Amino acid sequence: MPDRGDDDVVMVRRLTRWQRLGMAALFLAGVFVVGAAVFVWTGYYNISAKSEHWDFTTEILETVRDQSIHARADAIVVPDLEDPGMIALGRQHYRGGCASCHGIPGEERNPVSRAMLPDPPDLAFAFDRYDPSALFWLIDNGIKYTGMPSWPGMGRQDEIWPMVAYLKSVHQENRPGTIIEDTSGDGEPIDSYGFQVLDECSRCHGDAQTGPVSDRVPSLSGQPPDYLERALREYRAGLRESGYMEPAAFGLTDDAISLFATLYSQYRAPTTGAQFDPEQVARGAAIALNGMPQDDVPACTSCHGNGNPQFPNLAGQSQTYLQGQLELWRNGARDRTPYGQIMAVVGRNMSQSQIEDVSAYFASLEQPASGGDP
Ligand code: HEC
Ligand code: HEC
Ligand code: HEC
Repeated sequence: MPDRGDDDVVMVRRLTRWQRLGMAALFLAGVFVVGAAVFVWTGYYNISAKSEHWDFTTEILETVRDQSIHARADAIVVPDLEDPGMIALGRQHYRGGCASCHGIPGEERNPVSRAMLPDPPDLAFAFDRYDPSALFWLIDNGIKYTGMPSWPGMGRQDEIWPMVAYLKSVHQENRPGTIIEDTSGDGEPIDSYGFQVLDECSRCHGDAQTGPVSDRVPSLSGQPPDYLERALREYRAGLRESGYMEPAAFGLTDDAISLFATLYSQYRAPTTGAQFDPEQVARGAAIALNGMPQDDVPACTSCHGNGNPQFPNLAGQSQTYLQGQLELWRNGARDRTPYGQIMAVVGRNMSQSQIEDVSAYFASLEQPASGGDP
């Protein structure tokens, strides 16, 4: 007879103990599942936005939100947020895209947004709660189940920093009870409703007298009207992605689009007085006029300025805007339309420094007079 050692007996007992524990855990899990099912199916939970969450639910939701944001935002590199062009563009988009929910920074919000749960907070204090990279991530992605939307322009992360820069500027200037100081220079107090339609464009793009509010906003003056019209139709159809322009173009009728395109193409752009580095301009001129055959880049002037009404004018356009658009083509973010694809063949073969040089060259030229003669 083999001798059954003590070890075997202990082994049997141990297994039994684990099994018991396992059964207890299974039983508890079963009770939990049945309890949860009863909780859901009886409709016991009150989904009404009139009743606040329990404190502990709020705590869990906020912790999940903030941990999720910080885990994803930590590696984001922050640019210079004092840039006046960023602040001016962010401010104008805030009026149309954010103020209806978040209200005017530092002032009481409207009753409808106060009745949301969670309610959109006063963004005069956003910088107390989040650092710039967390705000960037939050504005780009939105927050599920809260009403906070994600950025409407897919693949347009380059558009988010002006919003963060604007929130920083109002954070510094506002404390509860103080009225927001106007920083963009147009003298109009910020408001969230009741724009006249052309105001809805000129507050960013300027009008017959004034230029764009920011170097990130293109000048429309002197562009071929056909080009402007097509651009607006593409924004309206969501084919050209931009979190600034898709909402602005969304409600425009065909008639309004033709009217704005004709009107803007006839305006004359005021000179900006921007200074350029002559060596950079010379390097850019060589690319623009001769192309770079070794990199498969044709001369820009073989298309731009050749009289085709679908090719935009580049002369006198802002350097920041030109550079930003060329970077979009390099990153594959403006090639969803047939015309975008023509330009993509050029843009994706250019290096960062070539993009900067050629943008400086075109920005240094004078804009064509008017009437859309490219
Ligand atoms: C439809 C309403 C709505 C719109 C429009 C909206 N938000 Fe929000 N936003 C919210 C809600 C609701 C919250 C609160 C989310 C929460 O508490 O988790 C929020 C939270 C935020 C926060 C976090 C603030 C803090 O201190 O906790 C920031 C920043 C923010 N929004 C920025 C923006 C910006 C910038 C825009 C415009 C581009 C915008 N929001 C447009 C509803 C909106
Ligand atoms: C919040 C500021 C803002 C408002 C308001 C606005 N725009 Fe724009 N617009 C921009 C920016 C920024 C761009 C560049 C977008 C991009 O990167 O595609 C742009 C681009 C455009 C373009 C394309 C120009 C080009 O050279 O390709 C047209 C056309 C245009 N806007 C017309 C309008 C019209 C018409 C309105 C009024 C209905 C309007 N915009 C309202 C900021 C604005
Ligand atoms: C083969 C013709 C062609 C050549 C060559 C070409 N482009 Fe373009 N470019 C276009 C077309 C077409 C568009 C309009 C794209 C659209 O509507 O999305 C465009 C648009 C642009 C825009 C956007 C302007 C705006 O208002 O949004 C920039 C910037 C630009 N091109 C720069 C350049 C530069 C710099 C070069 C030379 C290195 C160049 N292009 C060479 C055809 C060309």
